[in-house]
Amino acid sequence: MVKSMTAVNLGLPLRAALRPDAAPGVMPSLDGRPEHSGLVDRFGRVARDLRVSVTEKCSLRCTYCMPAEGLPAIPRDDLLTATEIARLVRIGVRDLGVREVRFTGGEPLMRADLAEIIGRSAEAAPGIDLSITTNGIGLDHRIHSLVEAGLTRVNVSLDTVDREHFARLTRRDRLPAVLAGIRAAHEAGMTPLKLNAVMMRVTLHDAPELLAWALENGCRLRFIEQMPLDADRSWLRENMVSAEELLAVLGERFTLVEAGRDDPHAPAEEWRVEGWTVGGAPATVGIIASVTRSFCAACDRTRITAEGTVRSCLFGDDETDLRGLLRGGADDAEIARWWQAAMWGKQAGHGMDAAGFAPPVRSMGAIGG
Ligand code: 5AD
Ligand code: SF4
Repeated sequence: MVKSMTAVNLGLPLRAALRPDAAPGVMPSLDGRPEHSGLVDRFGRVARDLRVSVTEKCSLRCTYCMPAEGLPAIPRDDLLTATEIARLVRIGVRDLGVREVRFTGGEPLMRADLAEIIGRSAEAAPGIDLSITTNGIGLDHRIHSLVEAGLTRVNVSLDTVDREHFARLTRRDRLPAVLAGIRAAHEAGMTPLKLNAVMMRVTLHDAPELLAWALENGCRLRFIEQMPLDADRSWLRENMVSAEELLAVLGERFTLVEAGRDDPHAPAEEWRVEGWTVGGAPATVGIIASVTRSFCAACDRTRITAEGTVRSCLFGDDETDLRGLLRGGADDAEIARWWQAAMWGKQAGHGMDAAGFAPPVRSMGAIGG
């Protein structure tokens, strides 16, 4: 049973017109930007949460993300190196107000030098929170070197604990490997471990079992509405499982009570699971209703793609190249200025739930989750 569900108006997502100044090699306009050291945009938002995609490769092929054959390979020389990533982390944290850094992909564990990326970033920005979003495969073998390098938190993507449904959704029969990765991260002290589950029709009815599994294993589970970020471009608003629908399914087994957001920028709205505790504390489940209750007005993200471009929004196709600057001998101040310019042009929102919505050209695996 679900006790309440009040709609929170989080701002009006609008799709901005394509920026005329987004040509490669041209710094996006800084017109009208106030003097501010951080990553501010025209809508008064300040980005402090940096996501860095380190590869387009992945060991799974989730239907909502990748095509069956995987994404076209990025030539090795086009990927940022560990040293280049750490330099951007340094500039972001020291000069631009970035407060936490998350490495994503694709699957970050597909980079053999992930520990080096984390280690160099930890040196470049001592004390900063450095986390990864991973599918967990192979994490059991790597977790100790990653923690030693400076990793502070882990988010694992897990959509179901039904092996057959997992295999169908990810096109790979790897559920046991994922569970081994989660266990290892837990044992290495990465707690509370967060789990992310994208809501899909094939796994919707596994949701209560997944939640029970997460709570019994000391994990914080968050469900995410599927966004149109699949490489196959088969997303249809009518097929999407909404937060409302998920709450009804969870309500068959659990009593959920709305508990709000952990902080105003947190995308997840938390629900207390009555009668359950995790580590002695009341259990919660998060729901990220990216489509039906968008939170663009509170967005504090800035993204760097694996090829070293700034992407101000998951859904904006304009990208600003920093790799050329890094390799062309630009100094930190110049790189910071370009990054600020890229963010100044951030669009208001994605407009996913409105008529005429057009998905971005790149899929999640290519941008970074
Ligand atoms: N919609 C919502 N979340 C997605 N992810 C990947 N593709 C999508 C999508 N289309 C999530 C993954 C993972 C993170 C990297 O992004 O499940 O949690
Ligand atoms: Fe890989 Fe994550 Fe995309 Fe699944 S969602 S294919 S695990 S990058």
